[in-house]
Amino acid sequence: MGRARRRARRAHGPLRGANVTRAVTLLAPAKINLALAVARKRADGFHELRSVFATIDLADRVRVAPYRRLEVRMAPDVGAPPGDDLASRAVRAMARATAREPAAFVHIRKRIPIAAGLGGGSSDAGAVLRALASIWQRPDVDLVAVAATVGSDVPFFVSGARVAFVSGRGEHVDPLPGPSQTHLVIVRLAARLATQDVFATLESEDRRAAGAVDALRDAFARGTVTSQLLRDNARNDLLGPAERLCPAVADARTRAAECGINLSLSGSGPTLFAIADDRRDALRIVRRLRRIGLAARAHTMGG
Ligand code: C5P
Repeated sequence: MGRARRRARRAHGPLRGANVTRAVTLLAPAKINLALAVARKRADGFHELRSVFATIDLADRVRVAPYRRLEVRMAPDVGAPPGDDLASRAVRAMARATAREPAAFVHIRKRIPIAAGLGGGSSDAGAVLRALASIWQRPDVDLVAVAATVGSDVPFFVSGARVAFVSGRGEHVDPLPGPSQTHLVIVRLAARLATQDVFATLESEDRRAAGAVDALRDAFARGTVTSQLLRDNARNDLLGPAERLCPAVADARTRAAECGINLSLSGSGPTLFAIADDRRDALRIVRRLRRIGLAARAHTMGG
């Protein structure tokens, strides 16, 4: 480097760092609910829940840049009414929290299927909040509190935890030590389920997963998680409602069970998952499920 350029860099370096805000690109991972228990319905219409969330190796790419107005583009387009998607809501929530104009350009490369129970929209929103905190230079903002105003799953994503015990409506996030790399299989169904409809269909006899959630949380906290323990406790109170609303969920689970594979529901579905012992086991499960016509793929969490 020439002396003149070195001098120029010295002169401009600190200035640029302080004043020029650049685009930020983040990966927004999908989640699964390893176990999920729903308790009472609150006065505000939301349910108290307890769940162990874990991110997996499937992610959207979210790029946020300074811009003169709010514009959100998704590829491929998810067909949400303009301005009503969770990323737009995240920009507006962060603008409210920092008393700024809701102006930003957000580009999302979607890989996580939508309305699938994998938290794709919520993860995008979490990434937008983190990016704006950086671009607007507001490290002081309580992002978990802002996230809770955007959606129930957003606090988990904005926390940056890979595994967490999540409670309340979703706003209490206690990070847990991650497991070593764990292999699992994700089964995508063509159907879409609206979270609101699944919660509305819940009956009191569906509520059975509380013990499994506690067992999982304690095992993560103690570092005693095994694949078998994950399988034994992969319970979800929203399974009954999802099966009643979406017969494809019950059908896929019945057919998988006939090949000896237990499929669990993630979130409010319809995505299903199976915990494998290792990568070879995951690939074996994928082959078997594909043979019976299910869209199965091997993934990992933790590690
Ligand atoms: O918070 P979010 O917009 O993701 O919630 C979608 C819907 O799911 C809510 O309108 C509500 O009907 C239901 N829900 C609930 N209890 C929760 C989370 C979501 O009843 N803890």
